[in-house]
Amino acid sequence: MTKKVTKAVFPVAGLGTRSLPATKAVAKEMLPVVDKPLIQYAVEEAIAAGIDTMIFVTGRNKDSIPNHFDKSYELEKELEKSGKTELLKMLHELLPAHVSCVFVRQGQALGLGHAVHCAKPIVGDEPFAVILPDDLIEDGNRGCMKQMVELFEQQQCSILGVERVDPKETHKYGIVEHNETAPGVGQLKSIVEKPKPEVAPSNIAVVGRYVLTPAIFEKIETTGRGTGGEIQLTDAIAALMQDEQVLSYEFKGNRYDCGSKFGFLLANVEYGLLHPEIKAEFADYLKQRVEKI
Ligand code: UTP
Repeated sequence: MTKKVTKAVFPVAGLGTRSLPATKAVAKEMLPVVDKPLIQYAVEEAIAAGIDTMIFVTGRNKDSIPNHFDKSYELEKELEKSGKTELLKMLHELLPAHVSCVFVRQGQALGLGHAVHCAKPIVGDEPFAVILPDDLIEDGNRGCMKQMVELFEQQQCSILGVERVDPKETHKYGIVEHNETAPGVGQLKSIVEKPKPEVAPSNIAVVGRYVLTPAIFEKIETTGRGTGGEIQLTDAIAALMQDEQVLSYEFKGNRYDCGSKFGFLLANVEYGLLHPEIKAEFADYLKQRVEKI
């Protein structure tokens, strides 16, 4: 029987040190790109992929994430009283009724692999998606995860979202080596976490989108601490591909690394230029501003 992806894990327990001081008291995933927090974009991408169970792996200082998805009675009452029906409608649409949220705590930030493992009791024996909200991906369509879930439905195996990066930047990513089997799709041959450019097997980097089979949990359990002393998802995937087929998938779309200051700024510019309310005014401003540089 073919399996479907109905659950998404959002590891959001990281410390966000690259975005300090903004992330001292505010969760990185709550930083807004134009007018929506990163976590909202991530959840919308999962919903567009047909996923209905959102599992957030949270940690200290992340209370604003459950608050964001809770019903806000006082605010809704105020909006109702003042006749702001459009805003009220927008609030209701943040989380459609068929979608449920589950919050799991990662007591200590021991790495992405460890964070994903915290979701095991909720995921159970099913394939699942992993979305890192700080990698914001705009594909002008129904989203990167939708593309990956469609590929999963055909292939029924783990899939890593990948992108070609500047060869000088391999030390920032998990890097793969693969045999291309179809345009944009490759069979994984090796994967290594944050290799220096001189030893990197390629410039094909894993970014924050995965579809994983539940066999990954057992692999995480036997994965020791790797790069940076953390339990790395990359190392568990390297073990998984010894037993099962793992594919890499070059998604269509533009990715913005909102965990870095520069990527976050780019995302705000690009999403500002797409936003129906402000795009014309913002484009005019940018044109005039650029002339003065
Ligand atoms: P990052 O490498 O971006 O780490 O984690 P970070 O702590 O969030 O940010 P910096 O590097 O200090 O600025 C990638 C993803 O994995 C999650 C993070 O929340 C982010 O979504 N993560 C990382 C966890 O949930 N737990 C961890 O122990 C580590």
